[in-house]
Formats: sequence, structure tokens, C-alpha cells
Amino acid sequence: MLTIRPSSPRSGVALDLGTVGTLVSVPSRGTLIEEPTVVARRRGTDHVVAVGSDAEALAACGADDLDIVHPLGSGVVSDPDAATALVAEVVRRAAGSLLFARPTLVVGVPDGATDVERHALAEVVRSTSRHPRVSLVSEALAAALGAGPGGAEASVIVDIGGGTTELAVVAGGHRTAHRSIRVAGNAMDEAVARAVRSEHGLVIGARTAETLKVSSGLVGGGPSMTVTGRDARRWGWLRSEPVEPALVAEALGRPAAAILRAFEDLIADVPPDLAEAVVTRGVRLAGGGSQLLGLADRFCQTTCCAAKVVDDPVRCVLRGLERCLRPDRLRPSQPADTAA
Ligand SMILES: Nc1ncnc2c1ncn2[C@@H]1O[C@H](COP(=O)(O)OP(=O)(O)OP(=O)(O)O)[C@@H](O)[C@H]1O
Ligand SMILES: [Mg+2]
Repeated sequence: MLTIRPSSPRSGVALDLGTVGTLVSVPSRGTLIEEPTVVARRRGTDHVVAVGSDAEALAACGADDLDIVHPLGSGVVSDPDAATALVAEVVRRAAGSLLFARPTLVVGVPDGATDVERHALAEVVRSTSRHPRVSLVSEALAAALGAGPGGAEASVIVDIGGGTTELAVVAGGHRTAHRSIRVAGNAMDEAVARAVRSEHGLVIGARTAETLKVSSGLVGGGPSMTVTGRDARRWGWLRSEPVEPALVAEALGRPAAAILRAFEDLIADVPPDLAEAVVTRGVRLAGGGSQLLGLADRFCQTTCCAAKVVDDPVRCVLRGLERCLRPDRLRPSQPADTAA
């Protein structure tokens, strides 16, 4: 657990429930919790044994009496019970007795989430305390707010997480255009795993694929990396093979191209003068996936506009949600479940 000291006290809880990582902060208490979005359950039962990093540690041990559950898929709740157990625990740890004061919980939601998915997320969050006020905020808008002062001028934000990439043009604290695609870090890992299987006949795990992704990125330079996986033809046999970074970079080119197409699609949706203004100001990249080696350069080459990864990109959405907790941004009559 990390502790931060906010510059000004604000009441309420900010929650970024991501496909890969869950971040909760309570600025007025100076608490920040960061946990992987993972839950361990006793096999065949509803009994939750551990959440977050404790669940991840159990997963690494490979205990055969446990189910390791990822309660979110593509940025939305796929296992409500597991998500509720995780959220209840991390919010309780971050907020403590503040929960009795019916705090406002500001939660990020992908723009591509359906009404049913938004409702499911709100229900999960509502279960953390009795009668909390829940406000859902667009993750793209939160990322833009968390990326730093944008002023009244329009800017473009691209938040590349584990499950989704959120893209938006934001001006004066409001979105003027947005896109959400279910291609992000996890899809990159899957692309790498598919390439290793087809080229080397080797089935590698998600962790190994992620390691290859992070070390090679789109650059693809450096020495080969030896990885161990199952032989696809003789199942049960383990085999180690050197994997060329060029193979990894080529595999990552496809999800990167999908993100760039979504960006072009977004820009095509705004009036020409506004598009020119935002492209001139440059693109801000946020989320863990934005750290992919060579991605900012690929943006510059393909779109002819400058692209920069924001400071501390993984916490960018959370910073924006904290800003949404400021009293001047919360309308008193704001109902629960409203996406800004
Ligand atoms: N250095 C890096 N290079 C490439 N990818 C990275 C790097 N560091 C983290 N990532 C990727 O970032 C992703 C997680 O990012 P993030 O924590 O922003 O996702 P999330 O908020 O949980 O997901 P989402 O917002 O889509 O629900 C993972 O796929 C991870 O592999
Ligand atoms: Mg995210």
C-alpha cells in the first residue's frame, strides 16, 4: 500500500476498476491502494479466499483447489460476485470509517460500456457500503483531466489499458468526440502468444507473452529471448526456444494498427478546424499500455502529430477521478450512475 498526501482535502473515494489493475484513493485521508484485479475462490464454491496481490500470489503457487478469477473483461464486470469481493475489500481498506458517512464514490467507466454493463458496475460499487452515492465518469474524460492542465483548448487523450483503449477529444472539461475499442494490453499479449505458437509450435502463458511484449515492444531490437512453453504437438512436453524480438514486434503491429485506426476515426469525427488544433497540440498517451516501446513514435510517424506519454500513465485515470471529487465538479443533484 502506498500513501500520498493530497494538496487539498476532498471528501469521497476515487475508484479506477481496471481489467488488469484496481486503484482506489481517498484524497481526504491520503490513502492510495493499488492491487491487481484478481480474486481467488475455493474451487466450485462462492468462498473468496483472497483478492488482489494475495490472490495473484496464490495463483503463482498453482493451488489446485482454487479458481483464479479475473472479474473484469474488456473493462467491464464479467464476474459480479468476484468484482464485489475485490471492490469491497480495497474500498474498505482505503476508506475505513469514512464509509459510514455515505461518501461519494467516483468510478471510471469505458465509453463503450452498454447500459447493462454500467448498471452492473454501479451495483458492484454500491455494495461497498450502505447508501453510497455512486457517480460513473468516462475513463477517457478522467484520463484527460488526470493528464494535467489542458485549459479550455481542445486536446486528444488516448488511454491504453489492459482491456480497452479509450480515445477522446476533450475541451474545457467536456468530451467533444470519443471512441472506445476492446483492443489494448491483453490483446497485445494474445497477439504475441499466437505468433510464438505459429512460428515455434510453443504454447506460452500470458505472463511470458507480457514479458516478451514489454521487452521488445514495436522496436524489436536486441538479442533473442529464451522462453519456455508447452510443445503444441506433444502436449505435456516443455520446451525452451529463443524468440526473435522482430517476431514479437511484427505481432504487436496489428493491435497497434487497430489503435491508430481508432485514432484516425476519432479525428475524422471532429470539425476540420478543431481537428487541426488538437493535432497541432499533440496527443497525450495514458494507461499502462501506452508505455509500449516505440508506440509514441509509431503515432508520430503514422498520424504526423506529436505524441507524448503522460507522467505516471497507470495512475492518470485515478488522478482525473480525484479531480472529479472536487465539490465544484459534483453537481448536488447529480444522480447515481451518470457518465460525465
Ligand atoms: N512497459 C510496458 N510496456 C507495454 N505494456 C505495458 C507496460 N507496462 C504495463 N503495460 C501493460 O499495461 C496494461 C495495464 O494497463 P492499465 O493498468 O492501465 O490497465 P487497466 O486500467 O487495468 O485496464 P482497462 O483500463 O483496459 O480496464 C497491461 O496489459 C500491461 O501489460
Ligand atoms: Mg484503465
